[in-house]
Amino acid sequence: MINESAVGLNGLDIKNLRKDFPVLNREVHAKPLVYLDNAASSQMPRQVIESYTDYFSNYHSNVHRGVHTLSQEATDLFENSRLSMQKFLNAGDSKEIIFTSGTTDGMNLVAQSFGRTNVKEGDEVLISAMEHHSNIVPWRMLCDEKKAILKVIPMNDKGELDLEAYSNLLTSKTKIVGIMHVSNALGTINPIKQMITEAHAKGIPVLVDGAQAVPHITVDVQDLDCDFYALSGHKMFGPTGVGVLYGKKELLEEMPPYRGGGDMILNVTFDEIIYNNIPYKFEAGTPGIAQVIGIGRAAEYLMDKGREELYAYENDLLEYATDKLSQIKGLRIIGTAKNKASVISFVLEGIHPHDIGTLLDQEGIAVRTGHHCAQPVMERFKIPATTRASFAFYNTKEEVDILVNGIKSVIEIFN
Ligand code: ALA
Repeated sequence: MINESAVGLNGLDIKNLRKDFPVLNREVHAKPLVYLDNAASSQMPRQVIESYTDYFSNYHSNVHRGVHTLSQEATDLFENSRLSMQKFLNAGDSKEIIFTSGTTDGMNLVAQSFGRTNVKEGDEVLISAMEHHSNIVPWRMLCDEKKAILKVIPMNDKGELDLEAYSNLLTSKTKIVGIMHVSNALGTINPIKQMITEAHAKGIPVLVDGAQAVPHITVDVQDLDCDFYALSGHKMFGPTGVGVLYGKKELLEEMPPYRGGGDMILNVTFDEIIYNNIPYKFEAGTPGIAQVIGIGRAAEYLMDKGREELYAYENDLLEYATDKLSQIKGLRIIGTAKNKASVISFVLEGIHPHDIGTLLDQEGIAVRTGHHCAQPVMERFKIPATTRASFAFYNTKEEVDILVNGIKSVIEIFN
């Protein structure tokens, strides 16, 4: 067990909070687990895990389809989760919350539905140089199909977007802007509110990839005024296989469905289909019911514990870790933006990230190594890969110290 100080940096009782996360008690290679791969998948509190057991033990059945009690109860839990996600994002209407299989699915939905309808030959789609593959590939595919042009907002050596270039790239040909709120590879928090205002001034809608933001920032989609906002359950202390796409009602109502099947229709004949209303129009087939209930429970967990306090604590922890890691000779942090969340990507002179990750694992420390599904970011910084430590509110200063010692040991092994 990690003997972390009982009270965190901002008076939060981190030791007590950690008790909610059973996996944090386990050992890896006979060492206490130090879980620093939260940007890939964060851990689930027992409240989310128990929602699974509860659903499968008491309510398991299909939703929106049965008149029997179990189906109605499952439907209530499922739809309550939609209300939790509406509250979590401060969406104006629960119809604006579409359950997806994750952020990637949400991005593909927007590209295939909004994009295929609105992007024509010669039009432009604008994304940024720091995007995850899930906000590049769907647009590349669409642009190839439509003979449209994919434009890219450049970034500086710190990993901050060039906002002057952004302004110039917004033209009458731009049909949509797709940007990440927080970079998974660099940790940069992008000034999306300002970017959305600027795009809207030219009548251009904005899709935000919020996968890495919602576990670290309180997001208010009405305040941001974004047109679409996509997120994943497993990055916000919920399950894998579920996500949410928020979309403005007026846009979603106009958009054609992305997938066909059960539940997304009002009437079907062989000649004509009448589609269901939003959000169901975009939720074809039996959904991951337990996962949907789980993501709602995760959102409730964050709201109950107080997001502002959790995120402020985590911010202090990031500062502490940045300071400690910066002092290691030969370590270079990739991504030094002024506004950052959760992530420290780094390289060590002469040591491959894969070796670093493998050796740290021997110490019980879980980090991610590789290109983080952001190969253009690696190319921009002229590196093949990084080692990435990513934090959540349940991490502690003591764990940061263990990471620092682990990195120093790796350096010693290679010297
Ligand atoms: N997108 C996830 C990450 O950054 C998988 O690790």
